[in-house]
Amino acid sequence: MARGSVRAPGTGCYHPVRVGFVVLAWPLRTNFSGGDRNETTRATIAVNGKRRKGFTGRDRRPPGGGNPTATTLEIVRVKWQGIGRERERLMRRLSLDSGILAWALGIAVGEWMLWHRWSADCRWQVMEGLQLGGFQVTDRFLRACRGEKTDTVPIWFMRQAGRYQPEYRALRRTKSLMDIVIDPDLCCQVTSLPVEQLGVDAAILFSDIMVPLGPIGVDYEIKEGIGPVVAQPIRSGADLAALRPLNPRTDLSFMIESIIKIRRRISVPLIGFSGAPFTLASYLIEGGPSRQYLETKRMMWSDGELWRRLMETLSDMIVTYARMQVEAGAQALQLFDSWAGALSLEDYRWAVKPYLEQILTELSALKVPRIYFAVGAGHLLETVASLPVEVVGVDWRQPLDQVRKVIGSKTIQGNLDPTMVFAPGRVLEEKTKEILRQGRGGPHIFNLGHGVLPMTEATTLKTVVDVVHEYGVESMRG
Ligand code: CP3
Repeated sequence: MARGSVRAPGTGCYHPVRVGFVVLAWPLRTNFSGGDRNETTRATIAVNGKRRKGFTGRDRRPPGGGNPTATTLEIVRVKWQGIGRERERLMRRLSLDSGILAWALGIAVGEWMLWHRWSADCRWQVMEGLQLGGFQVTDRFLRACRGEKTDTVPIWFMRQAGRYQPEYRALRRTKSLMDIVIDPDLCCQVTSLPVEQLGVDAAILFSDIMVPLGPIGVDYEIKEGIGPVVAQPIRSGADLAALRPLNPRTDLSFMIESIIKIRRRISVPLIGFSGAPFTLASYLIEGGPSRQYLETKRMMWSDGELWRRLMETLSDMIVTYARMQVEAGAQALQLFDSWAGALSLEDYRWAVKPYLEQILTELSALKVPRIYFAVGAGHLLETVASLPVEVVGVDWRQPLDQVRKVIGSKTIQGNLDPTMVFAPGRVLEEKTKEILRQGRGGPHIFNLGHGVLPMTEATTLKTVVDVVHEYGVESMRG
């Protein structure tokens, strides 16, 4: 197996290694498992501090029929938080649980491989194999991406790390957004915080869609309350020629380190992301946020050759950038096409879609779920549904049952209006349940219909997470 290189997953030691280590870890689990199933299940009731539907009585399985041993993680976490004598007692009974053993073994082997400069991809396969063999990680997000059965509807929020959090605001008093992004410790902390505070089912790497553009030669600044502002907009062939290809191993080594750290810290899947070519192009051409996208559309219509070269340059960069994130440990990829809704269906079809198809097809080799999200793009939905993705993200404008009719068996991600969190609690809860009902016809990942707004209360988001987890169980049955 290749050493010292970060290689594309899917080549060499991909599944066989993971499967091998699952097999290795499995007997450990049965030999060392402490505590019977009832005990573990009841522990979860105590851990969560309330009785959950489907959790009562003896020998009941968690909602949706998941594996009770998956709760080991929750118990370990509670032990670390050091609360409750009864939980301490349970923890002692479970102290030899193979999950912990396999987890530790996974980390030890991973560290050893890191020391010996094995490829990042290979390392993750081994560590994941050991850890999955030992216990079930919280993978309902990835299962839903793949269209598999889950115990309840998974949920995460776009922009789940940001100014609505007092901890983030405190950090931003002394650090800029980029200071956080390039410091692996801070990036790991900011990425993990919403997972630990809200109990969401996935983390998204803390970064920005502009980050890979800096190293290729774009001079930009992210202005508070405005967004990215580019010093020298790209309007001619000469502007474009000044850009150089991305070399992630040298240009973005901080990100590789951040991803490795985050994967060590959190027990939910990590989503990597990139801006989609149209949205990135719009910032590059306009020089900042825009209402009409006048210059972008002007280039599209008047200089097809320059448009093609710009879109190809961005497409190459996106593939390189996304591949780096997966090789470092990201387990899913989301392409943000925030401003694609500004295009007519016809223009989207010829000027944007071919590049998306090419990018997404190349990303298929990475074997991670691909999510495509566009805002205000109801009129594009039919053509978006035909993109080679596992998950289609939708904003709040369309009811999910209508979306379902168009996208068929693909997973839907969305779609609470981000301003709904300011509605009275009862209204918010009803709307959340309605979205769950509308999403029932197929795999659904709950999210907002765009990012979390800075004025949002963290406690309200936590309520949404709890309602989705509780009522999402019904969706799984319905
Ligand atoms: O979702 C997450 O928690 C991950 C972090 C993330 C950020 N930006 C951090 C950030 C993600 C996924 C993005 C993507 C992004 N950035 C998009 C696509 C998604 C979308 O919301 O449409 C776009 C269009 C951008 C460009 C951008 N960067 C904008 C419009 C802004 C907001 C400007 C403002 O002040 O309101 C940014 C800055 C930015 N990126 C913030 C965060 C948390 C704002 C907070 C800050 O300045 O500290």
